[in-house]
Amino acid sequence: MNNYQIKTFEQYQEAYKRSVEDPEGFWGDIASTFTWRKKWNTTLEWNFEEPNVKWFKGGKLNITENCLDRHLKTRGNKLALIWEPNDPKERFVRYTYRELHEKVCQFANVLKNNGVQKGDRVCIYMPMIPELAFAVLACARIGAIHSVIFAGFSAVSMADRINDAGAKVVLTSDGLNRGSKQIPVKRVVDEALESCPSVEKVIVVERLGWAVKMVEGRDVWYHDEVQSVSKECPAEEMDAEDMLFILYTSGSTGKPKGVVHTCGGYMVYAQYTFMNVFQYEESDVYWCTADIGWVTGHTYLLYGPLLSGATTLMFEGVPTYPDMGRFWQVCDKFGVSIFYTAPTAIRSLMSGDIDHVLSYSLDSLKVLGSVGEPINEEAWHWYHTHVGKERCPLVDTWWQTETGGIMISSLANVTPTKPAHAAFPLPGIQPILVNSDGIEITENEVEGHLCMKFPWPGMIRTTYGDHERCRLSYFSTYKGLYFTGDGAKRDENGLYRIIGRVDDVINVSGHRFGTAEIEEAINHNVHVVESAVVGYPHDLKGQGIYAFVICKDKPEREDYLRAEIIETVVEKIGKIAKPDKIQIVSGLPKTRSGKIMRRILRKVAEGDTSNLGDTSTLLDPDVVDEIKEGAL
Ligand code: PRX
Repeated sequence: MNNYQIKTFEQYQEAYKRSVEDPEGFWGDIASTFTWRKKWNTTLEWNFEEPNVKWFKGGKLNITENCLDRHLKTRGNKLALIWEPNDPKERFVRYTYRELHEKVCQFANVLKNNGVQKGDRVCIYMPMIPELAFAVLACARIGAIHSVIFAGFSAVSMADRINDAGAKVVLTSDGLNRGSKQIPVKRVVDEALESCPSVEKVIVVERLGWAVKMVEGRDVWYHDEVQSVSKECPAEEMDAEDMLFILYTSGSTGKPKGVVHTCGGYMVYAQYTFMNVFQYEESDVYWCTADIGWVTGHTYLLYGPLLSGATTLMFEGVPTYPDMGRFWQVCDKFGVSIFYTAPTAIRSLMSGDIDHVLSYSLDSLKVLGSVGEPINEEAWHWYHTHVGKERCPLVDTWWQTETGGIMISSLANVTPTKPAHAAFPLPGIQPILVNSDGIEITENEVEGHLCMKFPWPGMIRTTYGDHERCRLSYFSTYKGLYFTGDGAKRDENGLYRIIGRVDDVINVSGHRFGTAEIEEAINHNVHVVESAVVGYPHDLKGQGIYAFVICKDKPEREDYLRAEIIETVVEKIGKIAKPDKIQIVSGLPKTRSGKIMRRILRKVAEGDTSNLGDTSTLLDPDVVDEIKEGAL
């Protein structure tokens, strides 16, 4: 790779020191290794009050020229993308950099022919098929802003996101495969679009060969459109601070917000972190199991690896289909050397027969990664021992949709690893822990709220259409700091351990939900008067969803009511937000000012009711006894 790949601990320390003392020089040098149509005038302009963060201002580029075109000379025949289908009996597909370049250009021309222009928002609701990768890059190529929505969200969720972004075009497929199931994706899009006036066109990719309804004048088949387009498409010149994409994520209040990332800084940060954390080398075969619908899929399945000229693997299926050895079979099949997955997948595979792992050699593996939620020590050891054979460093990568790329993580074989610890910040990242008064805690062996005191190129710029929300969500809790919403500990050697969210966000199998968002969905059920949702420790999911619900009348059959409430949540958000436990209660523990005391509900949900703390300020303390008795 280039000169900015750190190879030793000393180099890490040097790079870190320089990044703090001379951040502009540090990032400017790294940015210079990319292809720019025009160099930037100012490396960094920032304040965390508004906030206003601009990297590489005045620079002109197109990220796809960096992902594709610049590799054509030296890596034209190298594999860029390997696609493995859901069903192992179906044949995989491979694309060289030259072929991927062509596919992206063709898709870009289809978009253009369907009226998409620079700055338009394009919503992508697609399964993990190669066309999804082409589609994302095609948007970037013509300067359209992609907003990928994970294809497990409901029609209502999709409509909210489409309307918030004012998307003009939706890209989708007839259906999708997930394990043994087939899901009618186009039907969900049709339902969503009943309330999305901004959408003019829907481009449908054929995956299952289903005869879906096509709306005249609105819907077109991709395979028809692609017939007549050129394999060349000039890349649109973008400003470094032009929007690259919007990705919706949940916060503690209101509806999910559209996190905005921009072209230049995101590009530099995605590539730098990819190359350093995983210690990527030219001959590696890299596999990130995340869906492109999440930020991990954006940065570490697509952009980071392609910017580095890597071979990246995309998998349509799930870890447990047709059996629990699927991940390991794919690793052996393609000689995967870097493998990046989520603790929830590890925990679910751990519960199966160990022979599912032991029957594969896994000899090609060199580096393992974890992302999305705290990895418990048991899962860490299982992954390190049985998958990595104690030979592969396991990097626990902490970051967020808002950070664009990995922030705190070991660098494989370069900086120390410690079970359940994300360890040290990457060069350029200045984390601090603060106490509840916002005062920095400087000593080690402490716990506090995790904040960042200096900008980095991949950071969130705004929340789409509502900059004030961005300020309020991230920059107002602690003055002059970016607040992550996470609590963390620093050990005696300064290694960070992320404990989890300290706000009303819960992390279920690595997916983020706001408790308010789930409550709002539950409250849509006609029988429900009010609800309160909290997270609780869950063996497989990390956190489970526990809902306390007040109903209008005492239900005759509580199980029916529960099933109905679950259905409402599935309809409003999607299957991934299904409550695990629903307790019907007659009241909620509220203070005299009407605020729900979630601390008490969390304790009940955790099954720890021995010490509920002071309940004397509650309006009706008796309700607590009832809740305790009825706990599930
Ligand atoms: O609580 C942290 C947790 O996931 C949150 C971010 O979620 P999202 O924006 O969906 O991005 C997930 C993928 C980057 C964080 O605030 N989280 C993420 N990675 C880790 C983690 N918690 C502990 N350890 C991690 N490695």
